[in-house]
Amino acid sequence: MEFSFGFIQTSGHKCSASWIRLLFFCSMLSTWTSVQGWSYFHSSTFMTWEEARTWCRDHYTDMVAIQNQEEIEHLKSWLNFTTGYYWIGIRKLNDTWTWVGTNKALTPEATNWAKGEPNNGKARGSSGNSEDCVEMYIKRDKEEGKWNDESCLKKKTALCYSAACKSDSCQYGECVETINSHECACNPGFYGDKCDQVVTCNKDEVRAPDNGKVTCTHKYGDFAFDSSCQYSCKEGFQLSMAGPQRCTATGSWSEQPPTCQLVQCPTLTRPSRGSMKCNDPLGSSSYRSTCAFACNEGYVLDGSPSNTLQCESSGSWNASQPSCVAVQCPAIQALENGIVRREADESFSYGKTCTFSCAPGYKLVGPNGVTCTSTAEWSEQMPHCEAVTCQIPKGKAHLTHQCSNSELRPNSSCSFSCDHGFKLQGAHTTRCSEDGQWSEDIPACKAVQCPAIQDLGNGIVSCEGDADERFSYGKTCSFSCAPGYKLVGPNRVSCTSAAEWSEKTPHCEAITCKTPEGGAHLFTDCSEPLSKLLINSTCSFTCEPGFELQGVQTVKCSDDGRWSEDIPSCKAVRCLVLEDPESGSVNCSNAEPLFNTQCTFTCGEDSILKGDKIRTCDHHGNWTGDQPTCEAVSPSATVVASSVAAGGAAVTSGLALALWLLKRLRKKASKFELDSNSNIDTPTAVYKSSIDSLI
Ligand SMILES: *[C@@H]1O[C@H](CO)[C@@H](O)[C@H](O)[C@H]1NC(C)=O
Ligand SMILES: *[C@@H]1O[C@H](CO)[C@@H](O)[C@H](O)[C@H]1NC(C)=O
Repeated sequence: MEFSFGFIQTSGHKCSASWIRLLFFCSMLSTWTSVQGWSYFHSSTFMTWEEARTWCRDHYTDMVAIQNQEEIEHLKSWLNFTTGYYWIGIRKLNDTWTWVGTNKALTPEATNWAKGEPNNGKARGSSGNSEDCVEMYIKRDKEEGKWNDESCLKKKTALCYSAACKSDSCQYGECVETINSHECACNPGFYGDKCDQVVTCNKDEVRAPDNGKVTCTHKYGDFAFDSSCQYSCKEGFQLSMAGPQRCTATGSWSEQPPTCQLVQCPTLTRPSRGSMKCNDPLGSSSYRSTCAFACNEGYVLDGSPSNTLQCESSGSWNASQPSCVAVQCPAIQALENGIVRREADESFSYGKTCTFSCAPGYKLVGPNGVTCTSTAEWSEQMPHCEAVTCQIPKGKAHLTHQCSNSELRPNSSCSFSCDHGFKLQGAHTTRCSEDGQWSEDIPACKAVQCPAIQDLGNGIVSCEGDADERFSYGKTCSFSCAPGYKLVGPNRVSCTSAAEWSEKTPHCEAITCKTPEGGAHLFTDCSEPLSKLLINSTCSFTCEPGFELQGVQTVKCSDDGRWSEDIPSCKAVRCLVLEDPESGSVNCSNAEPLFNTQCTFTCGEDSILKGDKIRTCDHHGNWTGDQPTCEAVSPSATVVASSVAAGGAAVTSGLALALWLLKRLRKKASKFELDSNSNIDTPTAVYKSSIDSLI
């Protein structure tokens, strides 16, 4: 049979304990016999349950509540029979049997009901008051020491106890009431009569680990029961155990001292199509390790905010592990009038190729395939499909075309012509074929060509345009001659559309002067032959005898092909007309007194010629000899003398007078009778008919 027992008064707190534990304490009890124990008391009057409880609490500790076999035996022997038996400290509260001292429910194991109880008074058919309080039978022939439920209003003897335990009876333990005594049941970790000794642990078993430290707190004494040593590690290290190291009640440590272990992060893996490079200063995939990720060409990191991961002290990487994903090129739009073909997986990612083709009647302009490059761009510009047409190439100069269809679709034809001055080279018509090609090449227009112009001797030809087109239609050539030469012909010509030069091409001729034309009687003598009178040539002139030069004697050929001076002429030499001498006459061979004219003087019958009978006109225009005179046969010298005196001249010498007269006579003479060709310097005649003019 097993009992629970009620309440143990200790240092301020109450605990429940099993019957087994109680037996364990009892075995320790013998040593404490001197302590005054638990004592029982009962009232000498009857009272209700409430009155009984109040009375017990006023005079003792409380109503009896402890139940064990020994206690029951003690009460059975010690108490006398009393009518109505004894109230004990159990009561029904809210339909539950409760120990009033602790307000705890009565457990089934601890019950000690008499047979058939509790019955709430049904056996006796009582009504009204329910039976909520408990009495214990004492000195009854049946069921002695057992319990019975009774109406709380019934008056019975109060059964009280007083406890032996005081507040300071046990320091770290429970004070256990025993019959008439108490004992200390020490809390774990304590020992001694009053439980004031504490168990200690081995201090040497507390050691700071490598890369860590330890801090202890002591509740009851250094390294004694319940001392707690908290270990910690440097950053990046982890304790091998979670909790603190405690000194247990048995004097041993709860744990061995822990160690500090390097923090490990989960092992990372190299991404496919990429690389991973780790740096492990402390250990592989450990605290402070860093791993850098990179991707192969055409792939980029994905799934992580950074390409370098670091193992943190928490044991996790500071970012999630990246992977390598292919770069994506922009999606390719549909091809108008054509088809885009993709690779099997239909993606536009790195390395993928798309190919293009056009519908019939259209041709592809651009590449027939593109590939996604590592820079997420297509390898080439997208193509497009264009309707097939033929093209007239631009820049065909001077070519005009006329086509049957403006769009130049297949089967349209075009004819060609050239601008004026240009000649078509090639086919005159062509047709657009199905593949957009012309049936004939597009012709060209070539300028018509004039005959080549040869170099000018002694001159320069300069023509417009390049060597191959200088003699083409519309081009102009100009000409110039070397110094000393003159251009004969136009100074420029242009090529006409008739493939002819606009004018006959010129030549350069040496500049010459004309043969001097001097008229009759002129003799010309030049430095060069007359056909080659170049610049600086000279010509000099003379006249036939009897003629004299009129103008310059010499001329020079100047730069402009003209003579420096007018060409001179020759004029016949002419003497003065001779007068008849007085009483005489003159008869000349020629009516005009020209060169070589001979004049003969004759005198009358009564006179004789004195002086030159014949005078000739010389090539200077002077007559030879002197003018003769005709003198009468009788002397007449006095007449001459008086005539001179009458002239008033103061002539002192007869010779001087004769000279003066001679001079006058030479000028005035017209007709003389000449005796001979006498010397003109000899004043042999006397001028007689010119008195008036002497004055
Ligand atoms: C993780 O650590 C590395 C190395 O220190 C650093 O470069 C990176 O930015 C960190 N990433 C994040 C998301 O903090
Ligand atoms: C002049 O002389 C010529 C010939 O000498 C002669 O024939 C002529 O009669 C003369 N005239 C006169 C007028 O004397």
